[in-house]
Amino acid sequence: MTTDFAEKNREVFEKQSRTYRSEFSKAVETLTNVAKHNRTWVSDTWTDTEAGNGKEIKVLEYACGPGHISLALAPYATRVIGMDISDGMIDEFKKNIREEGRSDNVVAIKANILSDSPPAEVSGPEFFDFDVLVVSMATHHFEHPGQALSRLSERLKEGGIMMIMDLVPEELPDYGMHQMGDVVHTISKHGFSLEEMRTMYDNAGVKTGFKYEVIDEPLVFTKNGNTFEKTIFIARGQK
Ligand SMILES: C[S@@+](CC[C@H](N)C(=O)[O-])C[C@H]1O[C@@H](n2cnc3c(N)ncnc32)[C@H](O)[C@@H]1O
Repeated sequence: MTTDFAEKNREVFEKQSRTYRSEFSKAVETLTNVAKHNRTWVSDTWTDTEAGNGKEIKVLEYACGPGHISLALAPYATRVIGMDISDGMIDEFKKNIREEGRSDNVVAIKANILSDSPPAEVSGPEFFDFDVLVVSMATHHFEHPGQALSRLSERLKEGGIMMIMDLVPEELPDYGMHQMGDVVHTISKHGFSLEEMRTMYDNAGVKTGFKYEVIDEPLVFTKNGNTFEKTIFIARGQK
């Protein structure tokens, strides 16, 4: 069952879906670059690396939005599945897959696999045993982030890699919260410290080789006419 919190996320991101990529173009570019530049730090197994040469490399990007991270990683994987709770985001992602000519190895599926009873259409074997699980800027939108990572980890194969990009925590003054508008009701936590992230990885059974790096370049975006500059991190660990 989809909770009220997840439903609020769906509703807010549904409204943003058509404009997300253009409205947040600077932030989208930063996130895409961070994912591309750090992929071999995250995992040594990609189609263009010695460890991955000739192997099947399956990536699941959860809460993928319009799919820019999935598309950035697609040239280095054999298959990428992006899932999101918002139909609008999935429609945008499908458009982007077509435009970038990636229909051969990227698919976009509307699904909420964090619910107590995940939909049957994403319960088959092709939706398990992923080599890499990616969550970008979405863990802070999950009602129970720790529980969410444990659920997502069930989709990873033994030895699979969990890659998370999210906000470094900061105290937001009240006016900062108001400036964010609607989206404030979709956020469960304003970022994760290294220790919080390590604990969530551990509890999710992703216990090997945990690393957390703060990214120098800030994530810059404008919302309701206010410009925000946030510090983000990238984390990785192996199941
Ligand atoms: C801030 S956007 C991030 C989009 C993209 N990953 C990126 O890095 O730009 C958060 C995304 O999480 C999705 N989302 C929120 N809660 C979700 C849930 N429970 N299951 C799946 N997707 C969810 C939203 O629809 C939205 O596309």
